[in-house]
Amino acid sequence: MQVFICKNNEDIASAVTDEITALLREKPNAVLGLPTGSTPQSTYRMLVNRFLAGKISFKEVRTINMDEYVGLDCTHPQSFRYFMEENLFKHVNLNPENIVFFNGLAKDAAQECQRYDQLLDSLGGIDLQLAGIGSNGHVAFNEPASEFSGKSHISELTLETREANKRFFHSLSEVPVAAFTQGMGQIIAAKKIIMIATGIPKADAIYRMIYGDITPQLPASLLQKASNVSVYVDQILANRIQQQYGVHL
Ligand code: GLP
Repeated sequence: MQVFICKNNEDIASAVTDEITALLREKPNAVLGLPTGSTPQSTYRMLVNRFLAGKISFKEVRTINMDEYVGLDCTHPQSFRYFMEENLFKHVNLNPENIVFFNGLAKDAAQECQRYDQLLDSLGGIDLQLAGIGSNGHVAFNEPASEFSGKSHISELTLETREANKRFFHSLSEVPVAAFTQGMGQIIAAKKIIMIATGIPKADAIYRMIYGDITPQLPASLLQKASNVSVYVDQILANRIQQQYGVHL
């Protein structure tokens, strides 16, 4: 794992956008694995600006998103598909046919996971997986568990995760209790993983992801087994790790 400490999320976004721009220059039809959440929003904004400036094209790009809430339609303002349309998809020249997303309203969960896994296989894997991390060390919606997941599945969301995401809903009771998610095995199989995290709440999870035991109780720790991982954190998070663990990232 290569760790990069940036001043703030804007600087992280700039560095990550440079990496994605370089990849698309080399492979215009690259497969991008994408997350949602507040951390990647600066990166998506920068990608849109770079597209509008004519410096990047998504014309041949394929995307596959990591997760989607169970029970939310793709037009629901709190669905992850809606988030991606608002933050990236509708602003760039991505072909809608090249977007792979879970269907949150799928009646047969097992069949939906099989469909998603087959689509991922047909893409030939992920060239660059952008990922965030939950304060409990979840990646996508792989929550702390008794074993690592290989393929996509439905995840029961922990109260900590639902609390962290309730800011997007009117109340905790409105936050879905389950979500479709990519499996950890599929995430670490990506040719390149870029993990981004900012702020004190993510410091412990990032520290344990890098230095801790590889355990399904900290799903992100499995990234230690991935071949090519860049971790971008802000100075606040790095300082917290230095204070709490005496470790300079
Ligand atoms: C959600 C998403 C994850 C995301 C995490 C952190 O649980 N399923 O993909 O990485 O939250 O989100 P944020 O960047 O808003 O802290």
